Amino acid sequence: MVLFWLPRLIAFENPPKIVLGFESSCDETGVALCTTDGRILGQALYSQIAMHKDYGGVVPELASRDHIRRLIPLMEDTFAQAGISMAEVDAIAVTTGPGLPGALMAGCAFAYSLAMGLNLPVIAVHHLEGHLLSPLLSANPPAFPFTALLVSGGHTQLMGVEGMGRYTLLGETLDDAAGEAFDKTAKMIGLPYPGGPALSKLAEGGNPERFKLPHPMLHSGDFMFSFSGLKTAVLTTAMKLAGVKQPSETMVISDTDKADLAASFQAAIVETLVKKALAACLQQDHKRLVVAGGVGANKLLREQLVKAARKRGVEVYFPELSLCTDNGAMIAFAGAMQLAENPTLLEKREYGMFTRPRCELATSNS
Ligand SMILES: Nc1ncnc2c1ncn2[C@@H]1O[C@H](COP(=O)(O)OP(=O)(O)OP(=O)(O)O)[C@@H](O)[C@H]1O
Ligand SMILES: [Mg+2]
Repeated sequence: MVLFWLPRLIAFENPPKIVLGFESSCDETGVALCTTDGRILGQALYSQIAMHKDYGGVVPELASRDHIRRLIPLMEDTFAQAGISMAEVDAIAVTTGPGLPGALMAGCAFAYSLAMGLNLPVIAVHHLEGHLLSPLLSANPPAFPFTALLVSGGHTQLMGVEGMGRYTLLGETLDDAAGEAFDKTAKMIGLPYPGGPALSKLAEGGNPERFKLPHPMLHSGDFMFSFSGLKTAVLTTAMKLAGVKQPSETMVISDTDKADLAASFQAAIVETLVKKALAACLQQDHKRLVVAGGVGANKLLREQLVKAARKRGVEVYFPELSLCTDNGAMIAFAGAMQLAENPTLLEKREYGMFTRPRCELATSNS
């Protein structure tokens, strides 16, 4: 890791700079300390899953309030782990968007106030840039350029990545994100929130060939996705199996049927992601494919991508499993890489806080 970033060190006098990063865009509060040569010195994470579980999804107001409660204890844990003091921090990075407005406000208000109090610069981080760069934190980091498949709860995008900040959108979903489709489908068949991990676990014992579900836009000839039709196909199949004409949360489906439905759904979504991601990678003439975001934790997706990529001479890179879903390390790291790229950020003193609940990381060049 240090070797990978060695050229960057030249930009700074030794020692490397230290960035304190905060993530609070949805239902995870994350804090981490990262150096400009890519070392995570300490990190702490709190997931609100247990709190939102009873509601079947994230309740924004509860999420915002909980971030406020967690930020200080998590920051204290992070400093204790790193064994350094606040005085050693050179800059503060924070997720400014996209995400839930109140949740972003909680993290940004805290980060900006702290920076102002300590007279430190604030580095605004796009949440998706955090996800996108998270595989660079693994033991075997990819070099630029690469094609990125970003599959999270709110996004499904294919991106050409030429270097830090040089991103081109190749395609994205027209409706549901892959993670969202996993979550909604899981809910339909009575699985608990968050549905992705639960559905993929159930699918392990199911027959993926039992139900012929649609593979949306597989042959569209571009890099766009659509998953809402697949989700509807699962619903109509579940209704047939339960013998009902109206969908309801109390539909009775046998355990075998549920597992087969889960496996068939997962197979359809994975096949679509694998085919399009590889096609995009080959079109870009990239030898590296990088996967990021929560759905990147999916076992079948990992296996199928590696298998298909190997045949085409492409190497696939994933983030560590713990860094697939939201975390503070990826935000501190993205902030540190911005600083390594542009050392003048150290001189910035702008405390007019802003959040961007909806914002693009990259625009399409077509
Ligand atoms: N093993 C898995 N298989 C499929 N989906 C999974 C798995 N593990 C997590 N997910 C899905 O990943 C999503 C969460 O990922 P992540 O935290 O990256 O998304 P997000 O932060 O909510 O969205 P965004 O980053 O787009 O704002 C959820 O939809 C969850 O169901
Ligand atoms: Mg996320």
